Amino acid sequence: MNFKVKTANLVKLKSQCLVVGIFKNPGKAKGVRLSASAERIDSSASGQLQQILNRGDVDGGVGSTLLLYDVQGISASRLLLVGLGDKEECPRNDYRKAIVAATNLLVERKIASADFAILDSVSDSHIGDYARQIAEAVHEATYRYRETQSDKKPMPELSRIGVLVNRRDTDAAQMGIDRGIAIANGVSFTKTVANLPGNICTPGYLADRARELARSHGLKVSVLEEKDMEKLKMGSLLSVSRGSREPAKLITMEYRGASQDRRPIALIGKGLTFDAGGISLKPAAQMDEMKYDMCGGASVFGALIAASEMKLPLNIVGIVPSSENLPDGAANKPGDIVTSMLGKTIEILNTDAEGRLILCDALTYAKKYDPESVVDIATLTGACIIALGHHASGLFSNSDSLADELLAAGARVDDRAWRLPVWDSYTKQLKSNFADLANIGGRSAGAVTAACFLQEFAMDYSWAHLDVAGTAWSSSSPKGATGRPVPLLVEFLIRRSEADNAGSGTS
Ligand code: BES
Ligand code: MN
Ligand code: ZN
Repeated sequence: MNFKVKTANLVKLKSQCLVVGIFKNPGKAKGVRLSASAERIDSSASGQLQQILNRGDVDGGVGSTLLLYDVQGISASRLLLVGLGDKEECPRNDYRKAIVAATNLLVERKIASADFAILDSVSDSHIGDYARQIAEAVHEATYRYRETQSDKKPMPELSRIGVLVNRRDTDAAQMGIDRGIAIANGVSFTKTVANLPGNICTPGYLADRARELARSHGLKVSVLEEKDMEKLKMGSLLSVSRGSREPAKLITMEYRGASQDRRPIALIGKGLTFDAGGISLKPAAQMDEMKYDMCGGASVFGALIAASEMKLPLNIVGIVPSSENLPDGAANKPGDIVTSMLGKTIEILNTDAEGRLILCDALTYAKKYDPESVVDIATLTGACIIALGHHASGLFSNSDSLADELLAAGARVDDRAWRLPVWDSYTKQLKSNFADLANIGGRSAGAVTAACFLQEFAMDYSWAHLDVAGTAWSSSSPKGATGRPVPLLVEFLIRRSEADNAGSGTS
């Protein structure tokens, strides 16, 4: 998608489709309030627009649309009215919904190029932010998974989007659009690798994609093979991969946007390219969805893509431990005891609690980078879906300030998380008769005890864990990866980079 900021005259602009906002008028039953852009068009069209709207076909509700042809007094060949709701300034999330609705209509009608004149109702200080929403929402509406269907869904014809602004707003809008594109690129990448099936998206495949990013995005990539992991004594991670014919990989991607001496933020993503449960085999129903057990890892790729395209002044290290979890003669058996890289022994009471087994060694490995903060992202527990459904990711942390940063970032971009506790009293549920820790903590509070397990390996730094089991993909309408929590992570990184700069600017 090609975006262009334009300062053109609205009524003179030759456009295949001009998109302008209308508002719902809460006072009147049928009344629609015109945005400033719509107002201008209406006066150039000698009131034709108002006349059409008086017929009451569209109410201005969020995402309502009306496509008009042959509107007088403008050079555009089509005019698309899009409802922005009844608030003075459309809230960010409604704004996105409206743009998605408008974009869907443009795609349906096979319109190749359109100009959005919908920043007119946005206050000056929000121009960049709302321009960013336009870029993100247009990408969201035009994303298509096409990798594995021979009868390929056609790509939307829509390929050029103009964004109309006042001259003084061009820089802010351009910056917002650039950010929106970077985030959308991260989200799309995450969705696509997550949607790929387990026989294509293997640990080796993910490692290859990381190596590509080294070239395309200037990341420093290294991939540890199983023999390297043996040297590092990653007995827990390796025990999961032993039951699979696909060799495990530990992928590290470094983005350096700040000076060498700045401590990095580490993002660690669970990369189970297929989780059958191992010997504690999962039931057959919906087992296909366990190809999504690498969504945490995919979100680390996505966040790094966005951060590097935005050139954020930060250092970030992304770590993706990747393996399959399958039943096999060499697989973990219930009761087996393994020794983690940290030295703690783990009694594997359920081989399906494998995510924590690979993450714990990655958490220990991360210490090598002396991280300022560590955030791990994992489709870790079905119990998290029971607790929070598909609305919020579970957030767990040993640091109140880090937890607050992540909650605020998620709320801001409508990619929400909700905090749950990691108290010692829960950790006690992980007591084992034969090892330092058991890998499960019983039926109650399953999402919490999984997080408590990870916390045992995250003692040396400020750490947070996002359980994205309920948010990383949708099982229906349409089935597919959501790209979450890339928006949350990127917002968190943006805010960190801004806080850093404010700090260094005053010192
Ligand atoms: N990847 C699953 C968690 C999961 C299940 C995510 C369903 C999304 C949907 C994880 O590896 C797992 O199997 N967890 C077990 C833990 C249990 C054995 C303590 C679970 O949630 O059932
Ligand atoms: Mn599992
Ligand atoms: Zn799993």
